[in-house]
Amino acid sequence: MRIVGIAGSLRSGSYNAALLRAALEECPAGATLEIESIRGIPLYDGDVEKAQGIPARVAELKDKVAAADALLLVTPEYNNSIPGTFKNAIDWMTRPVADIPRVFTGRPVGLIGASPGNFGTVLSQSAWLPVFRTLGMRPWFGQLLYVGSAGKVFDAGGKLVDDAIRQRLRKYMAGFVAFINSGPAS
Ligand SMILES: Cc1cc2nc3c(=O)[nH]c(=O)nc-3n(C[C@H](O)[C@H](O)[C@H](O)COP(=O)(O)O)c2cc1C
Repeated sequence: MRIVGIAGSLRSGSYNAALLRAALEECPAGATLEIESIRGIPLYDGDVEKAQGIPARVAELKDKVAAADALLLVTPEYNNSIPGTFKNAIDWMTRPVADIPRVFTGRPVGLIGASPGNFGTVLSQSAWLPVFRTLGMRPWFGQLLYVGSAGKVFDAGGKLVDDAIRQRLRKYMAGFVAFINSGPAS
């Protein structure tokens, strides 16, 4: 089973990229997590799409997600919502609309996130839900994972050093993989 994980930050010391790397460490046997990023994706511009089509980097990410069994988004929170950079990447990936079924529809999606504040991306995770609904995805709601106080949870090298969070991440990954394996409800 293959999961593509995308962290929604370009920052070299990103807590969310660190959380995605920790998710890879905690990915259960029998599943692989491919680490992806939003790097190289331009700002969405309908004129560019009309004249030049889908940018190569966007097409590459779309193909990776389409070939995987599931998607894991690791979201930062900006101003109590989804960072524009991350939303922009997913918006590009929903073009053209005719390709949404290939890339998104029915695809299991997991959602986790980290922030230095106390609430650990609660509001940005909520803000993703209408996007999943619009795209007809299959979100996993079995466990919530909000990583707050990220400055203490990760060390200076971006390693997850909080044992309680690591255990919750392990449980999250196990539950998500079981959900993917279970297939859609009939
Ligand atoms: C424009 C902006 C708005 C932010 N708003 C929030 C917020 O609403 N809630 C929050 O918990 N953190 C907020 N932060 C702090 C981010 O959580 C913090 O910068 C975090 O490190 C971003 O994720 P990253 O480490 O993966 O880059 C904001 C940061 C920026 C740059």
